[in-house]
Amino acid sequence: MKKIILTGDRPTGKLHIGHYVGSLRRRVELQNSGKFDEINLLIADAQALTDNFDNPEKVRQNIVNVALDYLAAGIDPAKSRIIIQSMIPELDELTFYYMNLVTVARLQRNPTVKTELGMRGFGEGIPVGFFCYPISQAADITAFKGTVVPAGEDQEPMIEQTREIVRSFNHTYHTEVLAEPEILLPENQASMRLPGTDGKEKMSKSLGNCIYLSDEADVIKKKIKGMFTDPGHLRVEDPGRIEGNTVFTYLDAFCKPEHFAAFLPEYENLDELKAHYQRGGLGDVKVKNFLNEVMQATLSPIRERRHEYEKDISYIYEILKKGTEEAEEIAAETLSEVKQAMKINYFDDKELMLAQQKEFDRERQQREAQEARMAKQRAAQAAKTGQ
Ligand code: TRP
Repeated sequence: MKKIILTGDRPTGKLHIGHYVGSLRRRVELQNSGKFDEINLLIADAQALTDNFDNPEKVRQNIVNVALDYLAAGIDPAKSRIIIQSMIPELDELTFYYMNLVTVARLQRNPTVKTELGMRGFGEGIPVGFFCYPISQAADITAFKGTVVPAGEDQEPMIEQTREIVRSFNHTYHTEVLAEPEILLPENQASMRLPGTDGKEKMSKSLGNCIYLSDEADVIKKKIKGMFTDPGHLRVEDPGRIEGNTVFTYLDAFCKPEHFAAFLPEYENLDELKAHYQRGGLGDVKVKNFLNEVMQATLSPIRERRHEYEKDISYIYEILKKGTEEAEEIAAETLSEVKQAMKINYFDDKELMLAQQKEFDRERQQREAQEARMAKQRAAQAAKTGQ
């Protein structure tokens, strides 16, 4: 079986470092590993519209931002496809057929949908489009026969939903055309759910607690300076807490051994630094300065690459167009297999036509035989009465 990556992001803003450690960094590694037959990155604008339908301009403006962030992070358009979801109508057709395989109750149980419903506060009730987006996500994944989905923990219920749809489809239509995907989660807890700079559970634009991949060096520095640490760690000599200390969580997600050699040679590694902090005698400013070095070293090549790509936006649109055109061919092929499995590919189905013709011919022959018998009877009757 082919190894195919399919994953994506909603274009509702620039990508931040939570996106980076949660999935983007891994995608670049997987891309460069050479172990995958295909890498598909979907800019999920149609999905973004399910809760931004009244603001298509936001989505429209951010498609290029997400593409730029991908490329800046190291996605290579020669190795990976970048795809605009709404330009592939086959995805909507698949969604419509998959809808028959999912119950309303099942969608209501989806934990990610539940959380999002809480956040969105749809005043007039839940729009059907939003409610069904997990089904459309199953179409995204299966259209490309994705087997591996590098994504954050919050996407787990979506992948599970997809697996159920795949099983149900293959079982119902006696086929194996659809592949069951697996999620690939980030390697450590810190990367799994990177908190905002304020220590809040999630990095989110509306909370204003994000560091963006495109932030300038001074902005990053300022955000790190104001970061949440251990509120009980008042004086340098006090013992400090590591748990829930955002600066250390970020170090867990970003720091590599070579960063110590380069920026803080008096410590071997992160464990030593943590031990000193817990013991007391290590101030927040020093740790923050180190984190700043680590973040600058990580983010400056990304930002510089972004600035290069920003010089030629028409080239970005060319990349998107090429990726999307290739993707549509693949999705069309899957859709055709799906329709064949459901036997709704009427015009290609010679058997259907022949079988139906045969049936109509049989009925006609019966009718004609019946008519012939009746005519014979009538003739016999006429002969009798005519006597
Ligand atoms: N739901 C994902 C998000 O909110 C975006 C997405 C759309 C996606 N289609 C996908 C992710 C398919 C993985 C696979 O970020």
